Amino acid sequence: MLKSFIIILLFSLPFIVLPQDLITNTTNRNTTTLNGTWNYIVDPYETGYYNYRYQPYDQLPEKNNSAFYNNYHAKDKLELVEYDFDKSPTLTVPGDWNSQHDKLFYYEGTIWYKRSFDYQVSKMSNRQFVYFGAVNYKAEVYLNGIKLGTHEGGFTPFNFEITSILKEKDNYLVVKVDNKRFKEAIPTINTDWWNYGGITRDVKIIEEPSTFIQDYSIQLEKNSNKTIKGYISLNNAKADENVNLTIPELDINTSLKTDGNGNVQFEIPSKKIQYWSPEFPKLYDVFIKTGYQTLKDEIGFRTIETMGPDILLNGKSIFLRGICIHEENAMRGARAYNDADALVALNWAKELGCNYVRLAHYPHNEHIVKLADKMGLMVWEEIPVYWTVDFTNEKSLANAKNQLSEAIARDKNRASIIIWSMANETPPSDPRNTFLKALINHTKSMDETRLISAALEKHYKDGVNIVDDEIGNYLDIVAFNQYTGWYGGSLEEAPNAKWDIKFNKPVVISEFGGGALQGLHGTTKERWTEEYQEYLYEQNLKMIEKIPNIRGTSPWILNDFRSPKRVLPNIQDGWNRKGLISNHGIKKKAFFTVKDFYKKIKLQYK
Ligand code: GCU
Repeated sequence: MLKSFIIILLFSLPFIVLPQDLITNTTNRNTTTLNGTWNYIVDPYETGYYNYRYQPYDQLPEKNNSAFYNNYHAKDKLELVEYDFDKSPTLTVPGDWNSQHDKLFYYEGTIWYKRSFDYQVSKMSNRQFVYFGAVNYKAEVYLNGIKLGTHEGGFTPFNFEITSILKEKDNYLVVKVDNKRFKEAIPTINTDWWNYGGITRDVKIIEEPSTFIQDYSIQLEKNSNKTIKGYISLNNAKADENVNLTIPELDINTSLKTDGNGNVQFEIPSKKIQYWSPEFPKLYDVFIKTGYQTLKDEIGFRTIETMGPDILLNGKSIFLRGICIHEENAMRGARAYNDADALVALNWAKELGCNYVRLAHYPHNEHIVKLADKMGLMVWEEIPVYWTVDFTNEKSLANAKNQLSEAIARDKNRASIIIWSMANETPPSDPRNTFLKALINHTKSMDETRLISAALEKHYKDGVNIVDDEIGNYLDIVAFNQYTGWYGGSLEEAPNAKWDIKFNKPVVISEFGGGALQGLHGTTKERWTEEYQEYLYEQNLKMIEKIPNIRGTSPWILNDFRSPKRVLPNIQDGWNRKGLISNHGIKKKAFFTVKDFYKKIKLQYK
């Protein structure tokens, strides 16, 4: 019998402990980072998680369970030790594992992480939480040998309370990370991006008083530009707790009282608001004070709505001059995760003349969303319901809803976010429409103020490009991807293309483009040359500006990005080459075609 090589005593816990309600605005809270060097153990057979009967150790009835775990304290209980975290190699957190060690480049499976740390709880704090910005794809989290819980979904944050477990000395935080793809997951098994695994975003300990500000929404009321509406939720609050909301620049200083559940809702009139916009990204200092803490945020106020074919920002018709972005620092060839990475991407977007970015195909880290607020870039935020997810699977729907909930919970106070996207290029069917309508309803139940869209597809019949996807009836913006001149269609004919779009709604081309190897030059007929890509953009843009109700576009894509599907030797070599900028940060000729087009469009929408 294969002896389990690490035996630890886990206090019996409910089998699947899901993360607690998300703690929002963590950058302005009292936190201690756990970023840095973590030990890791590769475990492709999940030997530390399943016994030889393939039963999860931490779900076995008897008190002895097992999981990979620092063996300081287990040694005396161990029958056999074959692993020792402290003698194992290290990974940097945050960061994907694929780009840190050659042997992990293609790795898909389980890796165990361990971080040891001492911790001095500060006097004001009665409660502590461990917070993960994201772990791709599934995380099982243990602290000091006790299972905190499980999280599924690779692009949204989660936290667990650790108050009764945290010690002053020798804490050991162990995380089982599994990035295996599977059919029922969100995203499903097939995607056109690199499956970066790991603790890919910040990890921190959050300190809170026993009653703390858990969450809040502070935005302009839907269809109003004079009323700030929202709620504040306290955790562990008695009824009638005093809460004070101040926005000094608006002369707002409102005293509120919570209800029996620790929540309070408010509507505050204001006639002085300077509205957030790309040209004037005004953010207000907002303070929430209770008897236990003061929490600051920086919030912009703007209205976003549609009227027929128009998108109205603060009541004015706009054109979304966009670009698609993957969460990858192409020069590092790795997941992007910090302010520096976000600045590189958004500075390029600004240089291109953008007022908008499509963060594809999953929620990006909070650094880039907060930076978009500051820089004045409107944002399309999307969950990875991509291509052929398992639309008939209730668990897949619950997972997609949960990822939406976590994304909206984290970002609902960000003025830059104007669109929640439900999906990308999902094949129409009744189960798919039911699935997407459920996501749309779920989104509206959480946020009635922002627009809802999805990247649909068009089809072609009798010489006409047709967009008649039934789900378009339920979207505020009809967005679709089209690749004239790359995946078929004539570039010469493109400017005369005929369109039949079945909705009197704003139309956004959520993707178009083609590949070019930066530095490869030739004629406009030669695929993969910069000249071909430039001509493709010229012809597509002539077509796009004539599409009925066109109100925006986000070409695919800012940078070349890693994809296991793109293997053409000496051209792709594992990179999708549709970037306007190479993975060495060099702009291709098509970058300037788009830049010129946006300069022209900007004048039309003055
Ligand atoms: C699709 C898809 C992208 C993909 C792109 C491509 O439209 O949405 O994720 O990378 O096409 O083929 O390059």
